[in-house]
Amino acid sequence: MAQRIQGTEDLYGRYMRAWEYMCDTARDLFGSYGFDRIETPALEQVATFVHGIGESTDVVRKEMFRVFSGALLDRLLASGDEKSLKPKQRMAMRPEGTAGVVRAAVEHSFVPQGAAPVKLWYAEAMFRGERPQKGRLRQFHQVGVEWLGTEDPAADAECIIMLMEYFKCLGFDPSTLRLRINSMGDEKCRPAYRESVRQFIFDHKDEMCDDCLERANINPLRSFDCKNEHCQHVMKSAPLITDYLCDDCKQHYAQVKSYLGAAGIEYVEDPTLVRGLDYYTRTVFEIEVKDSEVGAIGGGGRYDGLMQLEGGKQTPGIGFAVGFERIYLALKAQGKDLETPAPSCVYVAATSQDERRAAFDVTLALRQAGIRTEADYQGRSLKSQFKQADKLNARLCVVLGPDEVSAHRATIRDMQSHEQVQVPFDDLAQEVKKRLA
Ligand code: HAM
Repeated sequence: MAQRIQGTEDLYGRYMRAWEYMCDTARDLFGSYGFDRIETPALEQVATFVHGIGESTDVVRKEMFRVFSGALLDRLLASGDEKSLKPKQRMAMRPEGTAGVVRAAVEHSFVPQGAAPVKLWYAEAMFRGERPQKGRLRQFHQVGVEWLGTEDPAADAECIIMLMEYFKCLGFDPSTLRLRINSMGDEKCRPAYRESVRQFIFDHKDEMCDDCLERANINPLRSFDCKNEHCQHVMKSAPLITDYLCDDCKQHYAQVKSYLGAAGIEYVEDPTLVRGLDYYTRTVFEIEVKDSEVGAIGGGGRYDGLMQLEGGKQTPGIGFAVGFERIYLALKAQGKDLETPAPSCVYVAATSQDERRAAFDVTLALRQAGIRTEADYQGRSLKSQFKQADKLNARLCVVLGPDEVSAHRATIRDMQSHEQVQVPFDDLAQEVKKRLA
């Protein structure tokens, strides 16, 4: 039997509706903050991710799914030299949404000099070659936003406020969530900090894993999120960014915190929070559920240098993304359901096959009036049609018997009260709508 790949999931039924609920809630809430939806390709050039996410990140080094056409792969296996490929032949499935959105913004000049900021949101599948476990998938779904063209600390705060509001709309009690924030500095102050962390790692090289020693040359900050326990222990005494922030970054961070305070958002400052992607500058944040093992349910931050890394003009930006599967698990563990009930419908039942044609016409007429309508396609008895109607969450049944059909009438049966009325075919759609309202 064919099977899905480990670490991937089929979204259907109630699980699918839960994902749709997350998307609908995002459209409503983010829309009220002025965000429009964007969808970028799942396949991008490898360079888009390497430039943005960073060569030293696990996401790029270990987890990115590379894609080659069959013909290209044959050539590659024969020559053994990937470098001979043109950049556009080096493709990958997107591991996250930000790099692609920023690539699109550069390609289509979304934010010309002096223009108002652009606010975009997305709901898409992402792909990371991680070891599958609960809440950690190879294909997962993110809802995210990117706000391009402003470095105003109010934008950082509004992003976080909107994110916390989103969690509330999805059913989380805010007191069960922990929001951690940090400032990672900018190109002025971070180099000195990075250097001191590199020196610290070399001073402790006997205690660090090979990966960390290798990463120390490219981006030593990655060692803060190394999964090796020894490295985690050593990094606890590493220098902290807070001691290296320049005045501009300190002020920016202070303003973000002041706006969050004004909005009544609770947060914990964590100077070791560096996030797993290299493009961040200044504000970073991550949200986890207290006493839960699902991992972070969302995270984000500012990336004022990313647009340039993707070949555009210097344009500041900030955003976040949340993980659908983890949110679903976390809510379930709290006894809450992101699943929305199946939508109700109207069920058209025929007493025998003689009324089948009339049932066909009535079903089409109700659907044309915009009413979600189901009918029997298996020649069931009236009793089992009513059972089926219940299963499909029908609020009303339209029953067609020989007498009704010859009189061009139908019976509307309320499935809860069992109350019945007869109406002419011509008034049926209107009468059904009235009863559903
Ligand atoms: P991220 O922290 O890598 O950030 O991912 C955001 C969220 O996606 C995580 O908090 C988690 O809920 C979910 N997630 C990540 N990896 C997996 C996985 N393997 N399985 C299930 N869920 C996962 C980003 O992706 C950034 N692009 C966020 C951002 C937007 N920063 C600025 N703008």
